[in-house]
Amino acid sequence: MTGLDTIAVDLGSLGEQTDLSSLFDNDHPIELEIGCGKGGFLLRQAQAHPERNYVGVEWANKYYKFAADRMSRWSLTNVRILRTDAKNLVMHRLLPGCLSAMHIYHPDPWPKKRHQKKRLIQPDFMTAAVHTLSMGARLAIQTDHAEYFEQIKTVTSARPELEPIPFEDAEHGTVGEAVETNFEIKYQREGRSFYRLAFRRR
Ligand SMILES: C[S@@+](CC[C@H](N)C(=O)[O-])C[C@H]1O[C@@H](n2cnc3c(N)ncnc32)[C@H](O)[C@@H]1O
Repeated sequence: MTGLDTIAVDLGSLGEQTDLSSLFDNDHPIELEIGCGKGGFLLRQAQAHPERNYVGVEWANKYYKFAADRMSRWSLTNVRILRTDAKNLVMHRLLPGCLSAMHIYHPDPWPKKRHQKKRLIQPDFMTAAVHTLSMGARLAIQTDHAEYFEQIKTVTSARPELEPIPFEDAEHGTVGEAVETNFEIKYQREGRSFYRLAFRRR
């Protein structure tokens, strides 16, 4: 079992600029999952790729603890779970070019009109997100919400640094047609449609 103290990271203990590589004792490439929930995607990926480091960001205490405990029970040494606001982390704290991949699966859709300003994927966030990606890094986004997907397409297509690539990519997280996050598995049973995009940072 890897110590929970190592896996669950109190962001307050890191500097204003957050050097994610300081969380690991190697310089392997780092992939970030935003809103990792219960950590199903991270668990599978970290097991499959010990040569990569994974960081999950989750602000709900219940899920943060659940995911960190899960990684600890599997004795994974290449995962960290941060409890913080991913928007603030990406926009103000990460170092430029620090990520080899960013995964955003089923971001909260905030369907009511008056709540839509709370959506994560907005132009200011995407501008910052692009700068955290290294050249050639992958950005993958999946939602079950058709109207949010339209917004996501508009926001991402405004970034010339993002070159569209196929979403399905076994090397970077898909198993057949699935990414197998907890929400995807649940929504699949309900017969919902999924909308997805992937890009390479140029
Ligand atoms: C709909 S759930 C999807 C969870 C997971 N990605 C999946 O597919 O199973 C969205 C998750 O993102 C988290 N979340 C939403 N906004 C966030 C933010 N700004 N920072 C960190 N986590 C966030 C929520 O707490 C929730 O666990």
